[in-house]
Amino acid sequence: MSIRSYKGVSPALGANVYVDESAVLAGDIVLGDDVSIWPLVAARGDVNFIRIGARSNIQDGTVLHVSRPSSKNADGSPLIIGDDVTVGHKCMLHGCRLGNRILVGMGAIVMDDAIVEDDVIIGAGSLVPPGKRLESGYLYVGSPVKQARPLNDAERAFLSASAQNYVVLKNEYLAETN
Ligand SMILES: CC(C)(COP(=O)(O)OP(=O)(O)OC[C@H]1O[C@@H](n2cnc3c(N)ncnc32)[C@H](O)[C@@H]1OP(=O)(O)O)[C@@H](O)C(=O)NCCC(=O)NCCS
Repeated sequence: MSIRSYKGVSPALGANVYVDESAVLAGDIVLGDDVSIWPLVAARGDVNFIRIGARSNIQDGTVLHVSRPSSKNADGSPLIIGDDVTVGHKCMLHGCRLGNRILVGMGAIVMDDAIVEDDVIIGAGSLVPPGKRLESGYLYVGSPVKQARPLNDAERAFLSASAQNYVVLKNEYLAETN
């Protein structure tokens, strides 16, 4: 497993976390309990911090990074991901804030200071521009994203179910390595 220190700060892992051995985590990163990090994820908490909430999964090939403090933005842009968030394959999440029970579709890009409220689906291949706020309870698609329609009950239920599926899956992978 590639867990690297930066300026004396190393990633902190919660209970029962799974990190694939090909993933790279560096610096000020805190993973909540039951988080899973899949192959070829690159996450650098160097010029700011990264937080990932309980039961969230970051799928294969996703890149997580942050922006440093500047004269225009005193705190810079950390990356904060809530609980029960599914981040699909090959996404780019940069210096943004995601709430709870969110699906980030495959290949989506979320840029600095964007805010994604709870219970949102972002369609595959979408682009969320800097500073954009996505309202709770809606599907967003496109590049740049537009609000498509409210989520239906099945989609809302799927958000938690997807996270739970990944908790089960990572437990199976953990059993292989123990
Ligand atoms: C957006 C999404 C949720 C489907 O929503 P939907 O309303 O059921 O979509 P439909 O299949 O009924 O298609 C509705 C329209 O949206 C379009 N569409 C579907 N997905 C889209 C996407 N990601 N971006 C842009 N347009 C999309 C369809 O082409 C269709 O257009 P049309 O009406 O002009 O023919 C789905 O396509 C998606 O992107 N899911 C993300 C899955 C994923 O990446 N999971 C993570 C990996 S585990």
